[in-house]
Amino acid sequence: MDTALDEVKKKIDIIEYIGQFVTLKKTGRNFKGLCPFHQEKTPSFVVSPDRQIWHCFGSCQDGGDAIKFLMKWENITFYEALKELADKVGVKLRHSSVEDAAWRRKERLIHLNSLAGEYFGYVLAKTKVGELAKRYLSSRKINDRIVNKFQLGYAPQSWDSLFKFLHKKKFLPEEVFSAGLAVQGGRGMYDRFRGRLMFPLKDQRGNVIGFSGRALHDDDPAAKYINTPEGPLYHKRESVYGIDTAKEAIKKTGNVYVVEGEFDVISPYQAGFENIVAVKGTAITREQLQLLQRYTAKITLTMDSDAAGLEAMKKGIAEAEEMELEVGVVSLDFAKDPDEAVQTKPEEFRRVLSHPVPLYDFLIDASLKKYSVHEAYGKKKIGEEVAVFLAKIKNPIVQSHYVKKLAAILDVSESSVASLMRRATEEKKKRIFMRTRTQASTEALRETLLQKYILSITFQDETYESAGYVLQILNPADFSIPAYGKMYAAFLEYKIKYPDKFMPTVFILTLPAELQVVFDEVLLFATSDLIFEKENLKKLIFEAKRYSLKRQLATLLRMTDEKEGYERELKDLNHTLNEVEKHLAAL
Ligand code: UTP
Ligand code: MN
Repeated sequence: MDTALDEVKKKIDIIEYIGQFVTLKKTGRNFKGLCPFHQEKTPSFVVSPDRQIWHCFGSCQDGGDAIKFLMKWENITFYEALKELADKVGVKLRHSSVEDAAWRRKERLIHLNSLAGEYFGYVLAKTKVGELAKRYLSSRKINDRIVNKFQLGYAPQSWDSLFKFLHKKKFLPEEVFSAGLAVQGGRGMYDRFRGRLMFPLKDQRGNVIGFSGRALHDDDPAAKYINTPEGPLYHKRESVYGIDTAKEAIKKTGNVYVVEGEFDVISPYQAGFENIVAVKGTAITREQLQLLQRYTAKITLTMDSDAAGLEAMKKGIAEAEEMELEVGVVSLDFAKDPDEAVQTKPEEFRRVLSHPVPLYDFLIDASLKKYSVHEAYGKKKIGEEVAVFLAKIKNPIVQSHYVKKLAAILDVSESSVASLMRRATEEKKKRIFMRTRTQASTEALRETLLQKYILSITFQDETYESAGYVLQILNPADFSIPAYGKMYAAFLEYKIKYPDKFMPTVFILTLPAELQVVFDEVLLFATSDLIFEKENLKKLIFEAKRYSLKRQLATLLRMTDEKEGYERELKDLNHTLNEVEKHLAAL
């Protein structure tokens, strides 16, 4: 292992470090809090001071050390995270590794982009050719404060002025190409953006990761907007225009307005709406929702009046519901888009934005506009269209509220709405070839969970008190998961060697590498105070034993009775099983 990495890890206390981002509460040996990477109401995010690791047992099912945490939090690479932590604790990194090279290349591209941004800004503000773009901006009523805030610029009508500028700054042609600022033509490279108003695209930390350039005339034969293509820095699915200027306001207001285009961000910003970002003309993606979710649990989609926007929005809804985000909708039926709305009717814009409609009310309204509620066929259409979405609602109270509402609007019974929803769910399941979970697999899942709990409690108790109870009843063969059985066997050996105290950090070194990963996850698993009570533990142990005995019994019954000692074994098993049942009944 890298020595610098070791040193950084030693100097960082994960509880203190993650504690800055997440409110952690001690439970048992570990600390627990709400996972910062997905929306949740009950904590499933666990941090272990012993192992200096974290794990989310909720929908993330992910975990790791402090570096991994920062990587996920900032959406950055391993090396970037290591560097940030190293800087924080004053450790110097050697410049040699492969990651280092990749990271330096990225740093250079960011630098290249920001120089290009400065160049475009200079051309706009200080040169004669920039006047064209200045006039365009004033025709759209954008003032200098906003030009500076968003670092707008102008790419001159020339084949290679930026290319030459970057060359002078010692950037290689490959680098300009790889940043997406140059295009490879038959006779060499030329500037991608020519004669366009330039919007730097930035990540949440303000790094310029790409550009978007708008034609100054709507009859430009090329596209109205040209964007940096996918590359080492720019990933369209993950990027949200305006996040760096909006993030503080998003945190403060607890809400973010999502619009479609650059002007729809900067115009409202100029009018004082700072918690506003754009997804640039596409359906909002899961990655974009995850980025926004770092700052808020509430998202307000701002819909243009056209139907295409509605269809695009629907794609994002399932993701948002999955992440338990609160989604509201504002629809601007008095203007083409937010830019036009705020410029022409600022008061109306303000009023509409301050009254978002909850997503499901909006969907019901949209459907009511499409079909007639006064005839059976229209009712059928509305019911089917809305039920698809209602079926996805996670919160049962919210769901029941909308079932009632839809039933009342259609003047039908709630059970007919419910049956439409069931049909919607079933059809979806059929589509993805998913069968409903059988009884057997639920039982298997429960057995696995029991084993995981028992081991977790055992490993978290350094006094071996819990182990005392487990040892009396369970042996390695009782664990149906082979990795658990092996770990338990290793634990029994360890206990003989170190009978005074269980130390997770020492124990893990006795395990083969593949089990070390399993151990970390198991160690962090049990976090409810309740299950640390001895009576509860005993119940878990006996339940696990019962599962094990039933499994052995089933195996035995499948064998022929010619097996040596079959009768005797069968009798023993049944006897033990009865004993276990009695214990369980008494608990
Ligand atoms: P619109 O066509 O709705 O344009 O595209 P707009 O936002 O109203 O632009 P203005 O007001 O005429 O300047 C919405 C968004 O989709 C992206 C841009 O981000 C745009 O703002 N887009 C559009 C492209 O990336 N390429 C295009 O050719 C068009
Ligand atoms: Mn517009």
